[in-house]
Amino acid sequence: MLSKKLEKIMNEQIEKEGYSSNLYLAMASWAETMGYEGIADWFYAQAEEEHMHMLKFIRFINEKGGKAIIPSFKKPPVDFSTVNKAFAETLKHEQFITSSINEILHVAVEDKDFSSQNWLQWFVSEQTEEEASVRRIIDKLNILGEHNMYLFDRDIMSLRVPAGGTAI
Ligand code: FEO
Repeated sequence: MLSKKLEKIMNEQIEKEGYSSNLYLAMASWAETMGYEGIADWFYAQAEEEHMHMLKFIRFINEKGGKAIIPSFKKPPVDFSTVNKAFAETLKHEQFITSSINEILHVAVEDKDFSSQNWLQWFVSEQTEEEASVRRIIDKLNILGEHNMYLFDRDIMSLRVPAGGTAI
């Protein structure tokens, strides 16, 4: 049984995860049209992971006796200017999602809802890995500079972190 407050904030997270998926789809599509196949593949895969996160929230809310509500999503940007800017925006967005997950966990702690706390720990670990993965990419971009995108585009998939797994 979820408290009304936890049900509400988890429902809000459905929108955030779904928007994350669409944001990364928009970045993937942008990268693909710029000729960056590797970068596009990275963002397409990231979009799938975010879609899976959204599904996890939907199913958990319902499993706990709440009601998951499928929201509408705001339109993500169409252009991202440069690869460096796209990844800087990705890191900023993931930091926002991390604080959002922390806030949900805070409510679960206040509620003494131990099963939700336990379930949310997966997201806590996932966010740590996702932020680390994006930071590693930004470090590589800084080493390479803006004019070596061919090499970066070729190598980026080796920098991926598998969902729920450990950093490569
Ligand atoms: Fe599901 Fe990376 O936020």
